[in-house]
Amino acid sequence: MSPLAVEASARRLRAAGRQPRVAVLLGSGWGPFAQALEDPITVPYAELPAFPALQVGGHAGQVVLGRIGRHEVAVLAGRQHAYETGTADGMKGAIRTLARCGVKVLVQTNAAGSLTHALPPGSTMLISDHLNLSQLSPLIGEGGDDRFVSMTEAYDPALRAAARDAVARLGQEHASIGEGVYAWFVGPQFETPAEIRMCQVLGAQAVGMSTVPETIVARHAGLRVLAVSLLTNMAAGLSGEKLSHAHTLASAAAASSRAVAQLRAIVQAMEV
Ligand code: HPA
Repeated sequence: MSPLAVEASARRLRAAGRQPRVAVLLGSGWGPFAQALEDPITVPYAELPAFPALQVGGHAGQVVLGRIGRHEVAVLAGRQHAYETGTADGMKGAIRTLARCGVKVLVQTNAAGSLTHALPPGSTMLISDHLNLSQLSPLIGEGGDDRFVSMTEAYDPALRAAARDAVARLGQEHASIGEGVYAWFVGPQFETPAEIRMCQVLGAQAVGMSTVPETIVARHAGLRVLAVSLLTNMAAGLSGEKLSHAHTLASAAAASSRAVAQLRAIVQAMEV
């Protein structure tokens, strides 16, 4: 991703006249979050040369600049996954553009499979750490000593604590969010039951096909990261359910209003 494309994208976004300090990257099932923004201005990815051209249906591929309470935010609706290209750098230009525009915090969302009955389908989980089982990196080919970026506390502990508090302040029916380790597989096939048992042994609570590359890019760019999974199913072999993308989307849609309410509260309460 050329620095020129990042610069041109940053110029286009800045032309909207907003100054977001928080960006929210929406994964499967989290789309309704974008509809709740006040004063929205939409910029299609197609007008941003550092942003990916998206192939998958259901992803709009647009930045929505708007407000949540006292925060200006940039919401990214649409993500390129490593399973589309074989590389992990699909969102690199987009995240660098956000950093260039003054964004300080990247909030990521995704849909994931659950590895524990303590987090049944429909529940949400703050990611505390990840397992990069792919061994791909969006930083392969980068120069400079800062490529050796620390992945200790990649998911900002202070942001997580504030997020837990914000959710706890919500009413009864919304006031629960788990926390755990997210294991990244490239996909697009779902995992085997043996792979899921391996992840349980390794200490993961959730499994999915995104998020980890964006966290790596964001940390390299100096952004703080918070990530929330919406658990749409028990992972392979842990229930009788047959896994499919349609099932992921349907399950996410059923649980999204609670998840989105939590995310709004988390962003609103955030100190940036
Ligand atoms: N595995 C991987 N990715 C997913 C899953 C899963 O079970 N559910 C939603 N995204």
